[in-house]
Amino acid sequence: MARHGSPRHGEPRPPPGAPRRAFYGRRRGRRLRPGLKALLEELLPRFAVILPEAGGTLDPAALFDSPPQGCPVAAPRPEGIWLEIGFGAGEHLAWQAERHPGAGFLGAECFVNGVAGLLREVRERGLANVRIHHGDGRDLLDALPQGSLDRVFILFPDPWPKARHHKRRLIRDDTLDRLAEVMKDGVELRLATDDMDYLSWMLERLIRHPAFEWLARGPRDWRERPADWPPTRYEIKALDQGRRPIYLRFRRRRRRR
Ligand SMILES: C[S@@+](CC[C@H](N)C(=O)[O-])C[C@H]1O[C@@H](n2cnc3c(N)ncnc32)[C@H](O)[C@@H]1O
Repeated sequence: MARHGSPRHGEPRPPPGAPRRAFYGRRRGRRLRPGLKALLEELLPRFAVILPEAGGTLDPAALFDSPPQGCPVAAPRPEGIWLEIGFGAGEHLAWQAERHPGAGFLGAECFVNGVAGLLREVRERGLANVRIHHGDGRDLLDALPQGSLDRVFILFPDPWPKARHHKRRLIRDDTLDRLAEVMKDGVELRLATDDMDYLSWMLERLIRHPAFEWLARGPRDWRERPADWPPTRYEIKALDQGRRPIYLRFRRRRRRR
């Protein structure tokens, strides 16, 4: 559903002055069970990223300076900042955050049920190194300083299979340009899809982009998920329905000085 007019109560708002972007995915699904609703009300304010006004810059490391209220462990100043856009129910992000306690994790997701899912993981695993942008990941990208990210994940972005909807796809030249700005030299961008048309679309844009280099050396590299990359909920469904996911690892090339 497109985002037009004012957001409904409880829906994410872009920062003041931000460009009005159309968002076509789902913002809410089944009615949230009372436990998840309470989790959103109690925990989201503690873990939420507050974006600056449009044109302002966010210091992502500073988000981790003080532990979220109620977190038993103080998160140290992170060694690196990792971002996942469209984290779904959050199981991949939580898995990575648990295994990389020295890194700070930013997650962006528009779907409120997904945000509640990640908050549940954060509580169950006691994660102090996660911060959540409930909203459009492109608004978060706009606020990040150049060369501030150490890894980016965009796993199974909505494929928008109809030709007339292709313009809704998240992987587009302007998104890649912005990612190239905010990623550090030499760091990884990980993507996945089970939609072969979207795969061709992604590869076409990534391969021609001067900032990205595909790390694959042979078919095993895109057919097999690396060991440090857990399956996502969407991926498990795709496999159950007989679709084969493809895993892509790109490196942000060194900038010319
Ligand atoms: C097909 S689902 C995949 C979810 C998850 N990555 C997985 O593999 O299970 C795509 C997700 O991306 C989210 N999404 C789409 N566009 C987004 C955007 N611009 N910013 C943040 N999240 C977005 C959707 O709400 C949805 O949860």
